[in-house]
Amino acid sequence: MAENLKGLFFGFLRQKLFAIDFLSLKSNRCSYFFSKDTPKSRQLGTLILGSQNLKFWKNSLTENMFKFIVTNETLFFRLSKTSLLSNFFMLNLSSLKNIEKQSEFDEVIKGFRYGDVTGKETYVGRFVELDKDIINILENGMSVHDVGCSTGITSLEFFKLSAKHNLELKFTISDKFTSLFISKGLIKAIFDSNGVIKQIYFLNILLDQHLSPIFFLSKLLFKLLFQAKIKAISSKDTLKVSLLAPEVKKYEEAEKLSVIEYDIFKGNSEKYDFIRCMNVLNRSYFSNECIKSGLQTLLSSIKTDGYLLLGRTTDKRVNKATLYKKTDTSICCIKKYNGGCEIEDLLLRAFKEINL
Ligand SMILES: C[S@@+](CC[C@H](N)C(=O)[O-])C[C@H]1O[C@@H](n2cnc3c(N)ncnc32)[C@H](O)[C@@H]1O
Repeated sequence: MAENLKGLFFGFLRQKLFAIDFLSLKSNRCSYFFSKDTPKSRQLGTLILGSQNLKFWKNSLTENMFKFIVTNETLFFRLSKTSLLSNFFMLNLSSLKNIEKQSEFDEVIKGFRYGDVTGKETYVGRFVELDKDIINILENGMSVHDVGCSTGITSLEFFKLSAKHNLELKFTISDKFTSLFISKGLIKAIFDSNGVIKQIYFLNILLDQHLSPIFFLSKLLFKLLFQAKIKAISSKDTLKVSLLAPEVKKYEEAEKLSVIEYDIFKGNSEKYDFIRCMNVLNRSYFSNECIKSGLQTLLSSIKTDGYLLLGRTTDKRVNKATLYKKTDTSICCIKKYNGGCEIEDLLLRAFKEINL
């Protein structure tokens, strides 16, 4: 019992010391305190407890209204495991290149908000059961387009499965953001290939207009510094960071699959035999009108007698999706998975409108 209480106490204390150190932005010491129950940490803890300042430290993170940038990936993963603190930190985008383990890459990408409203969450094995079924309708020489692929890891899994089935497919995978750019200097702008600023790093503080309202200082400062940083992005002195999973990059370099930047609301002139669009056109992200417009882009880029797989993964990791076939006069359901796609009404309306 005494041992349990002691464990609880030091666990709690470590979290506070962590917060203190982050406020003073000394991330190495922070990691030291987090990992060790040392005489020094105990001494400092007693001091804080003695001065009855615990409440102050407890609230220091939740009330500082800032989100912080962590550059050291080891420290970042330690922080991620601490529920109290994980929401207050994001990995520095420039450290993404140091992460090779796919599960860690997935975890970091999930925390990045560069997909704007959609986020970028994806993970290994997400569509395994769908892939096994869909592979049977594909034939040699077909062209495949995975839209909104995030890191591309689920596209790669599908590609590997098709290779196992000796299928030679022309694979294109796309996302609105496949890479981002970081300007140099004390105040860094993170921007996309169109020069749109997504976030600003001010020292170790993350400024982002899309953060939740509790980080209102991070949101406010973003607006204040936004104009100033517009100049910075015109400078050529920037770092490009790929958002693709390391293994996907290797396949791209080997020209086994092609990666393009593609906005579902703009499209391109290519047509494909099979399009997959999972977890992009969700009602929780976009209005019905927007979804309809995205669906029209997709429909226009499917070849006659081509296929569309459309759907969403629920919080319980269930893929509610439908496989459709497009002919010149119809878009019809071939197969529903787990109740089917939830935006079928919009798909049918979108098809009707482009065929009027
Ligand atoms: C939640 S992730 C889904 C990733 C993957 N399809 C999956 O289901 O695992 C949504 C992705 O859609 C991308 N996205 C957001 N808006 C987009 C747009 N207008 N056009 C294309 N992709 C977009 C985001 O960048 C993000 O990578």
